[in-house]
Amino acid sequence: MPSSRCLQITAILLLALGLVVLVVTLSGQKPLASFVDNLIKKQVALAPGTDTFDNWQSSPVPIYDDIYLFNITNPTEFNKGEKAIVQPVGPFIYQKVEYKKQANFSGDLKYAMYYDYEYYVFNETETLKHNNKTRLSDIVYIPNIPLLTVVAQIAHNSLIPSFIKTQLEEVVAKYESLRGINYLTLNGSVHDILWGMDDPIMKILYSLKLAPSPQLALQTNGSTDPGAMTRATVVHTGHFDIAKVDEYHLFHGRNSSGCWGTNEANTINGTEGSMFEPLLVYNKSKTVTIYNEQLFRSVDLAFTNEDTYQGIPCYTYRIPDWALQNVTNNPTNSAYYAWTYSGMLNLTQCSSNVPLYITKSMFLDADPRISENITLGLTANRTLHDTYLCVEPYTGVVVDGHKRVQINVQMEHHSATGRNCLQLK
Ligand SMILES: *[C@@H]1O[C@H](CO)[C@@H](O)[C@H](O)[C@H]1NC(C)=O
Ligand SMILES: *[C@@H]1O[C@H](CO)[C@@H](O)[C@H](O)[C@H]1NC(C)=O
Ligand SMILES: *[C@@H]1O[C@H](CO)[C@@H](O)[C@H](O)[C@H]1NC(C)=O
Ligand SMILES: *[C@@H]1O[C@H](CO)[C@@H](O)[C@H](O)[C@H]1NC(C)=O
Ligand SMILES: *[C@@H]1O[C@H](CO)[C@@H](O)[C@H](O)[C@H]1NC(C)=O
Ligand SMILES: *[C@@H]1O[C@H](CO)[C@@H](O)[C@H](O)[C@H]1NC(C)=O
Ligand SMILES: *[C@@H]1O[C@H](CO)[C@@H](O)[C@H](O)[C@H]1NC(C)=O
Ligand SMILES: *[C@@H]1O[C@H](CO)[C@@H](O)[C@H](O)[C@H]1NC(C)=O
Ligand SMILES: *[C@@H]1O[C@H](CO)[C@@H](O)[C@H](O)[C@H]1NC(C)=O
Ligand SMILES: *[C@@H]1O[C@H](CO)[C@@H](O)[C@H](O)[C@H]1NC(C)=O
Ligand SMILES: *[C@@H]1O[C@H](CO)[C@@H](O)[C@H](O)[C@H]1NC(C)=O
Ligand SMILES: *[C@@H]1O[C@H](CO)[C@@H](O)[C@H](O)[C@H]1NC(C)=O
Repeated sequence: MPSSRCLQITAILLLALGLVVLVVTLSGQKPLASFVDNLIKKQVALAPGTDTFDNWQSSPVPIYDDIYLFNITNPTEFNKGEKAIVQPVGPFIYQKVEYKKQANFSGDLKYAMYYDYEYYVFNETETLKHNNKTRLSDIVYIPNIPLLTVVAQIAHNSLIPSFIKTQLEEVVAKYESLRGINYLTLNGSVHDILWGMDDPIMKILYSLKLAPSPQLALQTNGSTDPGAMTRATVVHTGHFDIAKVDEYHLFHGRNSSGCWGTNEANTINGTEGSMFEPLLVYNKSKTVTIYNEQLFRSVDLAFTNEDTYQGIPCYTYRIPDWALQNVTNNPTNSAYYAWTYSGMLNLTQCSSNVPLYITKSMFLDADPRISENITLGLTANRTLHDTYLCVEPYTGVVVDGHKRVQINVQMEHHSATGRNCLQLK
């Protein structure tokens, strides 16, 4: 279908993850002898029975996910083809409980292995402290990404015969009469949209055993990767090379994220982001690397400034500009399909061809053209919207940090029908 203009990239979901103090050690004074450095290295390596190991296995401080949804406040006009006017609704604050189950060490202590286990618990007190305007029961309108994702997964499943796929397309086309609303938009309470809402199409797909659940949901209460509990994650303990402490060797049983254009881009490097190599204090210009499951990639974070968190001196690291530049400015980003606008990560290939893009919150540092066809009513503020980690430079332990991402979906405007649509690439 021809499309003369694109109503591109509607913001839908914003996740902010707060990390607080993990371990308080050795701040302030500068170790004078290499004896002390060696002591630190020894303390920091993962080994059975150490404090480092206990804190690593389950964080002693709570981790919070602040979730915002972007409500399309003009759904009728939007469904007729007009620009979206969106308003952030939230935050809804969940404690993200993460636990490394059945953790073991290899015989030579080079690797530690475990199964990733996580779930979310709503924290009403924290939510009310930051958001006394909206509730989990409030109705919001968002692009119907959950449905599109299920449809895309079925379309890409070669085990499903094509006549069923054709029938599915017909069912989706009838969605409007089933829901009384364009299939583009999903409306429901914040709680149901996040965790599961009844849906006529999903009910049919589920009865045909084509979907794992009769509900649509943006989030999973548990790992999003069903393999997390069957394929072990393996990390370096740092026992032989302290610089590798907590670096992934295998993530959920794999050493490649698989959806990018080169082996280098697919390689799973770095840590989960709660600790790095110790003694960064002697090498400030060194980047630290994290692997982020939501981004499907490793990212090098660069030192920007010294700071303190609750009196603890720490080094702040942020995502450098070149990581999200388009191919004109950074040709190596062709591996990440960064063909057009700078400031976004193209997840299309990682999400069954659903055109999803990750940006910093509120399109911070992104090409303004990305959001030219959305009325957002808010401007980005680095303090509130950027991702950073602050690392205690002797131990390498992350004492403060926020991972903030916004998930966006590309929409197109069909000149033939005059309507906006969500389509698979
Ligand atoms: C915004 O809409 C205009 C036409 O109204 C179109 O030319 C432009 O490409 C759209 N911008 C994006 C980023 O899609
Ligand atoms: C979301 O937008 C719709 C349509 O304007 C409105 O009815 C609803 O109250 C809004 N929800 C919230 C939580 O503001
Ligand atoms: C750790 O060892 C126990 C006992 O041998 C085993 O049941 C468990 O699966 C192992 N964990 C991992 C991640 O391999
Ligand atoms: C997730 O599951 C846990 C129990 O496994 C439960 O306590 C919690 O309330 C659930 N969270 C949501 C958002 O449903
Ligand atoms: C919510 O968070 C506060 C910390 O701000 C904590 O004291 C409280 O136990 C948490 N409540 C729940 C239900 O997790
Ligand atoms: C709601 O929050 C705002 C600012 O966050 C505050 O000014 C206001 O007093 C609060 N209202 C109530 C009823 O707590
Ligand atoms: C969603 O919108 C349709 C059409 O306006 C309406 O019939 C339906 O009741 C709405 N659903 C919810 C959960 O608000
Ligand atoms: C990744 O795993 C594959 C097979 O499991 C193996 O052949 C390959 O050498 C590994 N690559 C790296 C860089 O470890
Ligand atoms: C991972 O590390 C290897 C070796 O240092 C490098 O070639 C590759 O580009 C890195 N990949 C990512 C995604 O950081
Ligand atoms: C995103 O990646 C897909 C798949 O590689 C590609 O077809 C598409 O053109 C890319 N989008 C942009 C805006 O570069
Ligand atoms: C690539 O990014 C630069 C800087 O943001 C911008 O000027 C240029 O127009 C972009 N190229 C394309 C094809 O969008
Ligand atoms: C950004 O947010 C911070 C923290 O709320 C505030 O102090 C600052 O004034 C804001 N900056 C701008 C330019 O609005």
